[in-house]
Amino acid sequence: MKTFACSVPTNVFFGAGEVSRAGELAVTLGKRAMLLAAKDTMRQLGFLERVEQLLTAAGIEVVVQDDVSPNPRDVDIDNQTRIFLEQQCDFTVGLGGGSAMDSAKAVAFLAGQGGGTISDYLAGGDHADLSDPAIRPACPIMVITTTAGTGSETTPWWVITNTTDHEKPGTGNSTTAARYAIVDPQLMLTIPASITASTGIDVLFHAMEAYLATIATPFTDLLAQEAIRIVMANLGTVLEDGSDLEARSQMAWANTLAGIAIGEGGSGTVGIHALGHSIGGQTDAAHGLTMAAVGPAFMRKTWDADISRYAQVSRMLGYDQGNLTEQQLAQKSAEALEQVLERFGCRITMTDLGVKEEMIEAMTDSVFKTMVGVLDCSLKPISREDVIALYRESL
Ligand SMILES: [Fe+2]
Repeated sequence: MKTFACSVPTNVFFGAGEVSRAGELAVTLGKRAMLLAAKDTMRQLGFLERVEQLLTAAGIEVVVQDDVSPNPRDVDIDNQTRIFLEQQCDFTVGLGGGSAMDSAKAVAFLAGQGGGTISDYLAGGDHADLSDPAIRPACPIMVITTTAGTGSETTPWWVITNTTDHEKPGTGNSTTAARYAIVDPQLMLTIPASITASTGIDVLFHAMEAYLATIATPFTDLLAQEAIRIVMANLGTVLEDGSDLEARSQMAWANTLAGIAIGEGGSGTVGIHALGHSIGGQTDAAHGLTMAAVGPAFMRKTWDADISRYAQVSRMLGYDQGNLTEQQLAQKSAEALEQVLERFGCRITMTDLGVKEEMIEAMTDSVFKTMVGVLDCSLKPISREDVIALYRESL
């Protein structure tokens, strides 16, 4: 067995009603919070007011930024950090899906550096190596997730769109893991079906890729396989009836498990996310769907890199075609994935997401500039020519 280390530094509070702990947890992080919330929805649903009240009741002064857009942009982070510093905030609270949580991490990080420009710290920037000892720790972070996707509550990673070159690099270091994560499935009951599907499928990809990564460990295998099992058993239910609290809870748990697998647990995503991110940078498509577009081609390209793992993926995805050998099962992993995507309404092409053939060159450049570390975690080496071919196949 390989050697590995594992820990989950984020304190996770999981379960229906747990959002009520927001105040008591936040008081341990400081006196003044910047509350970053997803644009419009958090206010409309009443979640923003509720969390603001919980924080205020605990004696915390709250600076609200409720204009976090999907795929948060570098310029927004710079601006929010300037306000954080001007208002002398102590910590951030991210309320929403991946965008709000990632914004909370990025603002806390940039505030820790004394402000500046976040793109300096993204791939291609002057200070892109966040493990450099000169980088100062982020301010404390608390996140309250309202979707079952991204896993951002249990990863140190954050993804910010670079508006200069339309890239969507992910980055982070050990100080950008949240101190507290509240995962309250009661906040997920009203998520529209389309977002339930695209975020739910993202959970599946996190778990599947964590299992198919060169850096997978026995710890992350355990989490990833359980997350896949839970998604397969519950995503259909929440798509049919979004108000099913038990099924929502199961999806939320799968998301947290998969987040630990690709984040704090030490495995990661692979070529599917590396290719998906560059689609997101070019088109602003929903994150989960970008992986759905390229996933099958990736599986067709890589299935023979590890027969036993790819065969296990086919089994976990419910592919059952009688007496197949391990080799045949592995070979069928792309088909197994296509069937699952179809079942959950996520069978999609890059063309459906607005990608044109002429964008492929720039998307490929972006993969090698911003996501090569992720790409290289794939069980089979993927060259530049391979990336181009995978994109063409997925158009
Ligand atoms: Fe993802």
